Amino acid sequence: MKVVDSIPLLRELISEWKRNGCTVGFVPTMGNLHNGHLKLVKRAKAHCDKVIVSIFVNPMQFGANEDLDAYPRTIDQDKAKLIAEGADAVFLPSVKDMYPAGLSAQTFVEVPGISEVLCGASRPGHFRGVATVVCKLFNMVQPDDAFFGEKDFQQLQVIRTLVRDLSMPVTVHGVPTERESSGLAMSSRNGYLTDKEKATASLIYQAMQKIKSAIESGESDLNALESTAIAELERAGFKNDYIKIVNADTFMPAKVEDSHLVIVVALFMGTTRLIDNLQIHR
Ligand code: PAF
Repeated sequence: MKVVDSIPLLRELISEWKRNGCTVGFVPTMGNLHNGHLKLVKRAKAHCDKVIVSIFVNPMQFGANEDLDAYPRTIDQDKAKLIAEGADAVFLPSVKDMYPAGLSAQTFVEVPGISEVLCGASRPGHFRGVATVVCKLFNMVQPDDAFFGEKDFQQLQVIRTLVRDLSMPVTVHGVPTERESSGLAMSSRNGYLTDKEKATASLIYQAMQKIKSAIESGESDLNALESTAIAELERAGFKNDYIKIVNADTFMPAKVEDSHLVIVVALFMGTTRLIDNLQIHR
């Protein structure tokens, strides 16, 4: 696996691949890789001739009181996992490479509407940071295909909207969430939880499944389903940020006629913010 730590070296490598007629699959990450990330790499390998993964803990998407400094950095283990998975290259840009003029002077990309609700409302500036770094990474890597986890479903839809609105020549693939056997969605932030908290956190998936089967059985009072789930999870020890049933494309509250819905959840277990979602096609 090639380890590329500068933009000129990256461009050289990508040009060589393209000269040889290879398609390029790209998996952007912030590292601390788990099976969810490795599934993205597998999917990219099945789809493209060459696969490159980026590892960059993006300061622009963290709020002032969030876990930027504490965010787990496990670069050696990450490289070993990527080698085992057969990735062709890993790109490790520095903060200086990404934001040469500093964060506050940085040109940014903002996706209106979908970036302003739910996680966007709870974490002001978060999706601006995600959209900007993904746009920059796409310009650097120039991939044919890019792979993102459905675990961050709002992020995935923000990126799909960005690619459509800016006519970027990249196909975005959403890859289903990888879960522990308990149902808990895999996430780098699960590392902050104790075993007891992890066991409780698996209730999130059960609560979403309950909502999904109620909707599939014809329940139309979505507000009541949301409130019941919030009350149950608060009783179990979570602090609620939101549980909402929304239109999967716009993230606006679901309507009776919507055919693709998503139940989106953000809850705190202690100081750890956990997100998850479950789609409903009808
Ligand atoms: O999902 C993530 O890991 C990050 O938000 C991403 C897409 C790599 C951008 O920093």
